[in-house]
Amino acid sequence: VTSNEPLLPKDLFVGLEQVTHLCTGGEAPWLRGFEEVYKEFARLKSDGLAGRERVYEIGDECRDLMGQLWGVPGHRIAFMPSATEGMNWLARGLGWKPGDNVVTDNLEFPSVAYAWRDLAEAGVEIRMVEHDDFHIDEDALLSEVDARTRVLAVSQVSFYTGQNLDIRRLALGLRTSAPSTLLAVDATHAAGVVDVWAAVTDLCVSSSYKWLLATHGTAPCFLSERAESMTRGSSYGWHNLAVWPAQGAERAPTVDEKLMPMRLEPGNPAMVVVLFLHHALSQLLEVGIGPIQEHAWNLSERIDAGLRDLGHTVISPSARVARSGNTCFLVPDAAALQEDLARERVLVWGEYGRVRISGHLYNDDSDVDRILEILAKIR
Ligand SMILES: Cc1ncc(COP(=O)(O)O)c(C=O)c1O
Repeated sequence: VTSNEPLLPKDLFVGLEQVTHLCTGGEAPWLRGFEEVYKEFARLKSDGLAGRERVYEIGDECRDLMGQLWGVPGHRIAFMPSATEGMNWLARGLGWKPGDNVVTDNLEFPSVAYAWRDLAEAGVEIRMVEHDDFHIDEDALLSEVDARTRVLAVSQVSFYTGQNLDIRRLALGLRTSAPSTLLAVDATHAAGVVDVWAAVTDLCVSSSYKWLLATHGTAPCFLSERAESMTRGSSYGWHNLAVWPAQGAERAPTVDEKLMPMRLEPGNPAMVVVLFLHHALSQLLEVGIGPIQEHAWNLSERIDAGLRDLGHTVISPSARVARSGNTCFLVPDAAALQEDLARERVLVWGEYGRVRISGHLYNDDSDVDRILEILAKIR
């Protein structure tokens, strides 16, 4: 019998000694080390231009760390305000024609499913592949793609079921059958806990406040070279246009757009959050995504087996590689069960007919034992 010890001590986080924290899929706990990061930011913020330059330098280091995590060059990572904005930028940026289509699925997170909603007016069809008993089949997605599919848009890991889609299989399928279709991936429930192969995608974006351990306000976004060349910008400003210093303060009628990473940043990103993300990524990369992924899969298997023993209907996949940090089961009154568990100081996310139990690198077998014990008692 293997035992799953935390890969990062719980006392590196605020409040973990008081709760069984199994809700990283909703909000991650706060790293104590952020206090020092905040102090450093405060010092730099008050230090005029020199301080600001250092803040931007740390920002560039953060792009590199993100690139390291995702296997892409750091200079192709932009900081968008939210993961939602990544998909919407693509929806606004492609020159759509009547008869074009987008392929996604009917279990998708709203920001992925509905970023394209206004395109219907332009004659663009939104194809939602139906889930099969809460499973999304990669081949079913690919079979909906045709020569007019501009974008295949999916979450790598489902917010609803925890299914970890095989993104490389989707990329390979597109390369052979529809090479001009862009692959757009929301990696919010994948980044920081399982491997993310951003290099095979055209756009890969993630929130920072879940598995990446930072907070709201910054979403790293990878954009491929070909997607960059195929898209038009839709917001412009001092940060993504080549306005300085050639013409001084006087404006010329035309101005060039900057390339990635500035291209997706018309104004300043939320730099204090970028600094938090930088610190969080250092912690994650020190442990390594390989061990984190194995740990999350181990916990998921234990949670799954325990839930089934209690008679629950688990909707997460049972194949190890299709698992993630999220293990989910059906409960009609999911919000009520979440509250019952919270009263026992066990934190999960319960909504829309299912409860999601999340295991990340600070969780261990005792957390799994505890939730199963409470579930056995109250349900
Ligand atoms: C797949 C997915 N994308 C995006 C988000 C939200 O991210 P943001 O607020 O950064 O747009 C969530 C939040 O639950 C999510 O599950």
